[in-house]
Amino acid sequence: MRLVAGLVFAMACLSSLHLQAGVLGTAAPVRAEAPSVATTSSPRSLYVLHCAGCHGMDGSGSELGQVPDMRQLGRFLTHPEGRRFLVQVPGVMGSGLSDIDVARVTNWVFTNLVTDINRPTFTPYTAQEIQQARANPLKDVMATRARLLAQKP
Ligand code: HEC
Repeated sequence: MRLVAGLVFAMACLSSLHLQAGVLGTAAPVRAEAPSVATTSSPRSLYVLHCAGCHGMDGSGSELGQVPDMRQLGRFLTHPEGRRFLVQVPGVMGSGLSDIDVARVTNWVFTNLVTDINRPTFTPYTAQEIQQARANPLKDVMATRARLLAQKP
Protein backbone atom coordinates (compact mmCIF):
# COMPACT_ATOMS: atom_id res chain seq x y z
CA MET A 1 0.00 0.00 0.00
CA ARG A 2 2.79 2.43 0.91
CA LEU A 3 4.50 1.58 -2.34
CA VAL A 4 1.34 2.34 -4.31
CA ALA A 5 0.84 5.62 -2.46
CA GLY A 6 4.48 6.52 -3.13
CA LEU A 7 4.11 5.75 -6.81
CA VAL A 8 0.95 7.81 -7.11
CA PHE A 9 2.66 10.70 -5.36
CA ALA A 10 5.72 10.44 -7.61
CA MET A 11 3.48 10.43 -10.69
CA ALA A 12 1.61 13.46 -9.39
CA CYS A 13 4.89 15.31 -8.81
CA LEU A 14 6.16 14.39 -12.24
CA SER A 15 3.05 15.55 -13.98
CA SER A 16 2.78 18.81 -12.07
CA LEU A 17 6.44 19.44 -12.86
CA HIS A 18 5.89 19.08 -16.56
CA LEU A 19 2.75 21.12 -16.21
CA GLN A 20 4.72 23.96 -14.66
CA ALA A 21 7.37 23.68 -17.33
CA GLY A 22 4.55 23.84 -19.88
CA VAL A 23 3.16 26.99 -18.30
CA LEU A 24 6.58 28.61 -18.53
CA GLY A 25 6.62 27.71 -22.17
CA THR A 26 9.80 25.69 -21.93
CA ALA A 27 8.44 22.21 -22.51
CA ALA A 28 7.10 21.55 -25.97
CA PRO A 29 5.99 17.93 -26.18
CA VAL A 30 8.77 15.91 -27.66
CA ARG A 31 8.16 12.78 -29.59
CA ALA A 32 9.96 9.83 -28.05
CA GLU A 33 11.56 7.29 -30.37
CA ALA A 34 8.61 5.16 -31.32
CA PRO A 35 8.46 1.80 -33.02
CA SER A 36 6.38 1.69 -36.20
CA VAL A 37 4.41 -1.47 -35.50
CA ALA A 38 1.59 -2.36 -33.14
CA THR A 39 2.41 -4.32 -30.00
CA THR A 40 0.54 -7.48 -29.17
CA SER A 41 -0.90 -5.82 -26.04
CA SER A 42 -4.61 -5.13 -26.00
CA PRO A 43 -5.58 -1.45 -26.10
CA ARG A 44 -6.83 -1.80 -22.53
CA SER A 45 -3.41 -3.08 -21.41
CA LEU A 46 -1.76 -0.18 -23.22
CA TYR A 47 -3.99 2.18 -21.28
CA VAL A 48 -3.25 0.48 -17.95
CA LEU A 49 0.51 0.42 -18.56
CA HIS A 50 1.05 3.79 -20.22
CA CYS A 51 -1.77 6.10 -19.16
CA ALA A 52 -3.61 4.94 -16.04
CA GLY A 53 -0.71 5.81 -13.70
CA CYS A 54 -1.58 9.48 -14.14
CA HIS A 55 -5.09 9.42 -15.57
CA GLY A 56 -6.53 6.74 -13.26
CA MET A 57 -8.21 3.49 -14.28
CA ASP A 58 -11.50 5.29 -14.92
CA GLY A 59 -9.87 8.30 -16.61
CA SER A 60 -10.96 10.69 -13.89
CA GLY A 61 -7.44 12.14 -13.51
CA SER A 62 -6.27 13.89 -10.36
CA GLU A 63 -6.68 17.41 -9.10
CA LEU A 64 -3.48 17.08 -7.07
CA GLY A 65 -1.44 16.15 -10.14
CA GLN A 66 -3.49 18.50 -12.34
CA VAL A 67 -4.34 15.65 -14.67
CA PRO A 68 -7.54 16.49 -16.59
CA ASP A 69 -10.63 14.28 -16.61
CA MET A 70 -10.45 12.01 -19.67
CA ARG A 71 -14.15 11.27 -19.46
CA GLN A 72 -14.80 14.69 -20.97
CA LEU A 73 -12.72 14.47 -24.12
CA GLY A 74 -15.76 14.50 -26.41
CA ARG A 75 -15.98 18.29 -26.23
CA PHE A 76 -12.63 18.55 -28.07
CA LEU A 77 -13.93 16.64 -31.09
CA THR A 78 -16.15 19.46 -32.30
CA HIS A 79 -13.15 21.02 -34.05
CA PRO A 80 -10.36 19.33 -36.10
CA GLU A 81 -7.70 21.15 -34.08
CA GLY A 82 -9.21 19.80 -30.86
CA ARG A 83 -9.21 16.29 -32.21
CA ARG A 84 -5.53 16.68 -33.13
CA PHE A 85 -4.68 18.27 -29.76
CA LEU A 86 -5.72 15.11 -27.90
CA VAL A 87 -2.90 13.11 -29.47
CA GLN A 88 -0.31 15.91 -29.24
CA VAL A 89 -0.21 16.20 -25.44
CA PRO A 90 3.09 15.27 -23.74
CA GLY A 91 1.74 12.02 -22.27
CA VAL A 92 1.05 10.79 -25.79
CA MET A 93 4.02 12.34 -27.60
CA GLY A 94 6.45 10.93 -25.05
CA SER A 95 4.73 7.59 -24.50
CA GLY A 96 7.11 5.69 -26.77
CA LEU A 97 4.08 4.01 -28.34
CA SER A 98 3.87 3.53 -32.09
CA ASP A 99 1.35 5.60 -34.05
CA ILE A 100 -0.91 2.59 -34.45
CA ASP A 101 -0.82 1.88 -30.71
CA VAL A 102 -1.62 5.51 -29.91
CA ALA A 103 -4.59 5.20 -32.26
CA ARG A 104 -5.65 1.94 -30.58
CA VAL A 105 -5.37 3.26 -27.02
CA THR A 106 -7.07 6.57 -27.87
CA ASN A 107 -9.93 4.77 -29.62
CA TRP A 108 -10.23 2.50 -26.58
CA VAL A 109 -10.44 5.57 -24.31
CA PHE A 110 -13.21 6.99 -26.49
CA THR A 111 -15.22 3.78 -26.56
CA ASN A 112 -14.75 2.92 -22.87
CA LEU A 113 -14.08 5.97 -20.72
CA VAL A 114 -15.35 9.07 -22.47
CA THR A 115 -18.93 9.87 -21.50
CA ASP A 116 -19.63 13.20 -23.22
CA ILE A 117 -20.09 11.80 -26.74
CA ASN A 118 -22.65 9.91 -28.71
CA ARG A 119 -20.39 6.87 -29.35
CA PRO A 120 -21.78 5.78 -32.73
CA THR A 121 -20.79 9.18 -34.16
CA PHE A 122 -17.15 8.78 -33.10
CA THR A 123 -14.75 8.32 -36.03
CA PRO A 124 -11.80 6.22 -34.85
CA TYR A 125 -8.29 7.68 -35.10
CA THR A 126 -6.01 6.11 -37.71
CA ALA A 127 -2.23 5.58 -37.45
CA GLN A 128 -1.75 8.05 -40.31
CA GLU A 129 -3.71 10.73 -38.47
CA ILE A 130 -1.59 10.17 -35.35
CA GLN A 131 1.61 10.36 -37.37
CA GLN A 132 0.60 13.72 -38.86
CA ALA A 133 -0.43 15.12 -35.48
CA ARG A 134 2.79 14.01 -33.80
CA ALA A 135 4.85 15.54 -36.59
CA ASN A 136 3.52 18.97 -35.55
CA PRO A 137 4.18 19.32 -31.81
CA LEU A 138 2.27 21.92 -29.79
CA LYS A 139 4.22 24.97 -28.71
CA ASP A 140 2.27 25.55 -25.53
CA VAL A 141 -0.02 22.76 -24.33
CA MET A 142 -2.01 24.65 -21.69
CA ALA A 143 -2.52 27.77 -23.82
CA THR A 144 -3.73 25.63 -26.73
CA ARG A 145 -6.06 23.73 -24.39
CA ALA A 146 -7.52 26.94 -22.94
CA ARG A 147 -8.04 28.40 -26.42
CA LEU A 148 -9.75 25.22 -27.66
CA LEU A 149 -12.07 25.05 -24.66
CA ALA A 150 -13.03 28.72 -25.10
CA GLN A 151 -14.08 28.08 -28.73
CA LYS A 152 -17.75 27.78 -29.49
CA PRO A 153 -18.59 24.38 -31.04
C1 HEC B 1 3.10 11.36 -16.33
C2 HEC B 1 1.67 11.47 -16.25
C3 HEC B 1 0.86 11.19 -17.53
C4 HEC B 1 0.88 10.05 -18.31
C5 HEC B 1 1.70 8.79 -18.13
C6 HEC B 1 -0.09 10.30 -19.37
N1 HEC B 1 -0.65 11.53 -19.22
FE1 HEC B 1 -2.08 12.33 -20.42
N2 HEC B 1 -1.97 14.07 -19.37
C7 HEC B 1 -1.22 14.30 -18.23
C8 HEC B 1 -1.33 15.71 -17.84
C9 HEC B 1 -0.65 16.36 -16.64
C10 HEC B 1 -2.18 16.30 -18.78
C11 HEC B 1 -2.56 17.80 -18.86
C12 HEC B 1 -1.75 18.46 -19.95
C13 HEC B 1 -0.30 18.45 -19.66
O1 HEC B 1 0.18 19.23 -18.82
O2 HEC B 1 0.40 17.60 -20.24
C14 HEC B 1 -2.59 15.25 -19.71
C15 HEC B 1 -3.46 15.45 -20.76
C16 HEC B 1 -3.93 14.45 -21.59
C17 HEC B 1 -4.97 14.62 -22.58
C18 HEC B 1 -5.75 15.91 -22.85
C19 HEC B 1 -6.91 15.99 -21.88
C20 HEC B 1 -7.43 17.38 -21.69
O3 HEC B 1 -8.56 17.52 -21.18
O4 HEC B 1 -6.73 18.34 -22.00
C21 HEC B 1 -5.13 13.43 -23.21
C22 HEC B 1 -6.11 13.08 -24.33
C23 HEC B 1 -4.17 12.51 -22.62
N3 HEC B 1 -3.46 13.17 -21.63
C24 HEC B 1 -4.01 11.22 -23.03
C25 HEC B 1 -3.05 10.36 -22.50
C26 HEC B 1 -2.84 9.02 -22.98
C27 HEC B 1 -3.65 8.34 -24.09
C28 HEC B 1 -1.81 8.50 -22.24
C29 HEC B 1 -1.18 7.14 -22.37
C30 HEC B 1 -0.62 6.82 -23.68
C31 HEC B 1 -1.37 9.53 -21.31
N4 HEC B 1 -2.14 10.65 -21.50
C32 HEC B 1 -0.37 9.39 -20.39
C33 HEC B 1 -0.44 13.35 -17.59
C34 HEC B 1 -0.11 12.12 -18.11
